[in-house]
Amino acid sequence: MVRELFGEVISNVKVGIKNIYLLKIKIGEVVELYPGQFAMIKVTDSFDPFLRRPMSLYNVEKDICSFLYQVVGRGTEILSKKRIGEEVNLLLPLGNTFPKLNKQEKILLVGGGVGIAPLNFLINFYKDKVNFYSYLGFSSIVSEEIYKDFKEYSRELVISTEDGSLGFKGKVLEFLPDDLEYFDKIFSCGPSLMLESLWRRVKDKGKLYFSLEEKMGCGIGICLSCALKGRDRMFHVCKDGPVLSGMEVQFDG
Ligand SMILES: Cc1cc2nc3c(=O)[nH]c(=O)nc-3n(C[C@H](O)[C@H](O)[C@H](O)COP(=O)(O)OP(=O)(O)OC[C@H]3O[C@@H](n4cnc5c(N)ncnc54)[C@H](O)[C@@H]3O)c2cc1C
Ligand code: FES
Repeated sequence: MVRELFGEVISNVKVGIKNIYLLKIKIGEVVELYPGQFAMIKVTDSFDPFLRRPMSLYNVEKDICSFLYQVVGRGTEILSKKRIGEEVNLLLPLGNTFPKLNKQEKILLVGGGVGIAPLNFLINFYKDKVNFYSYLGFSSIVSEEIYKDFKEYSRELVISTEDGSLGFKGKVLEFLPDDLEYFDKIFSCGPSLMLESLWRRVKDKGKLYFSLEEKMGCGIGICLSCALKGRDRMFHVCKDGPVLSGMEVQFDG
């Protein structure tokens, strides 16, 4: 059941040269939260900006929720100025979750930029109970802090940056294994062009799950601003998603 919670910022630090920040909020109580879910964050006390901003849960430890975000506009700029001790109002939990994983499944994670956020919560949720193979791409160098859990819990971790400042030089899809059918499931979040190329490469679309980042107004299925044409029907990404399977999405219409 979605709730309005008032948390307190306990940390908000820059972790990448491309304006990437890691925000930790103490919400003061333990809430049942699952990988894939997101929060709608109110970035000011006033009504300007009016809309909350959707952010995936990057991690949850007891009553502390973390978010990894990139400053792209006014809302995220205001968020980046939040100091320790400031109050933040959030709606949570929202959206569906990644499907449940079975022990020993082989799971490929493909994250682009701050799209690694929901994958980080997923890997922390299962830790070494599942065989994760993680492929993460950034435009430029990021702090090790944001991928340390992938390093610890993945059987294989490949990092690339477009400018070559960390890991391989290039886009992360260039470094994926040839045989993607080897994996039991594939989870991805990041820029839509990356998701589309991955979708085209994987033959068995039923293995694929994307966490989508459509523009949102309400986050609870009322305003219809997150409507997305899927293969067989319309989806409201906030309510039916943000996790949709490769069988549900439509890239070629
Ligand atoms: C379910 C969900 C989870 C998300 N998780 C994260 C996350 O973990 N980390 C993160 O950095 N961002 C995440 N986003 C995207 C984030 O919500 C937007 O970047 C943010 O709302 C932009 O607000 P702004 O006021 O700074 O930018 P605006 O001034 O509103 O817009 C600036 C630019 O960002 C683009 N933009 C705005 N909203 C979105 C959006 N929802 N998706 C993609 N582009 C957008 C606009 O087209 C514009 O080009 C998520 C979005 C969704 C729907
Ligand atoms: S954001 Fe309002 S219906 Fe999805």
